[in-house]
Amino acid sequence: MKKSFICLFIALIALSSCAQKQIKNMDQFEKISWKELDKSSIAMIHDWMLVGAGTTKDYNMMTASWGNMGWLWEKPISTIYVRPQRHTHNYTEKNDYYTLCFFDKKDKDILLKMGTVSGSNFDKMNYDKLTAIETDNGSIAFEEANLIIECKKIYKSLLKEDEFIDQSIPSKIYPTKDYHTVYIGEIINVWKKK
Ligand SMILES: Cc1cc2nc3c(=O)[nH]c(=O)nc-3n(C[C@H](O)[C@H](O)[C@H](O)COP(=O)(O)O)c2cc1C
Repeated sequence: MKKSFICLFIALIALSSCAQKQIKNMDQFEKISWKELDKSSIAMIHDWMLVGAGTTKDYNMMTASWGNMGWLWEKPISTIYVRPQRHTHNYTEKNDYYTLCFFDKKDKDILLKMGTVSGSNFDKMNYDKLTAIETDNGSIAFEEANLIIECKKIYKSLLKEDEFIDQSIPSKIYPTKDYHTVYIGEIINVWKKK
């Protein structure tokens, strides 16, 4: 009786540790300056990135190919555009940081998957091709990335139909009026795979 109770206890512990994938540290990455980015940010974003936000216990990520990087308010910044219906939007709203992860060409399938399924009905935290890692600020990034950019939100706004100077854009891009939320984040850390 006592033996079977112990076995059940061990099995329960094993089960609970399987339920969520282990969060790793950033050992495989080295910190670099944003000045050392060797590829145009337009090309980097055009080739798709993963926007992630949340905590180790509760996070979500999605593929994005609209965004910018530049210099604003005397800071290096990124700008991302997240439609309100994205599950990721809940996370970019309630967290102070977001990360941008960039991948090798061979990992395009990961980005395609994360850009075509939603965390609202797919368990992205247990997606087997991505391993979550945690930054010192508690942001979520992914071990499979070759470059990680961590940003601290400093501004947010909603695109507005009547502010478009080129009025062909809202009718073409936003037929259902789901205008993007725009987040500007100060780039506070950049890590490159060692
Ligand atoms: C190549 C590509 C680029 C995308 N870029 C964006 C983007 O910049 N902003 C956005 O809101 N959605 C973008 N999406 C759509 C989201 O990635 C997609 O809807 C995803 O399933 C949302 O996941 P979520 O609901 O878990 O957040 C893009 C999708 C792909 C495939």
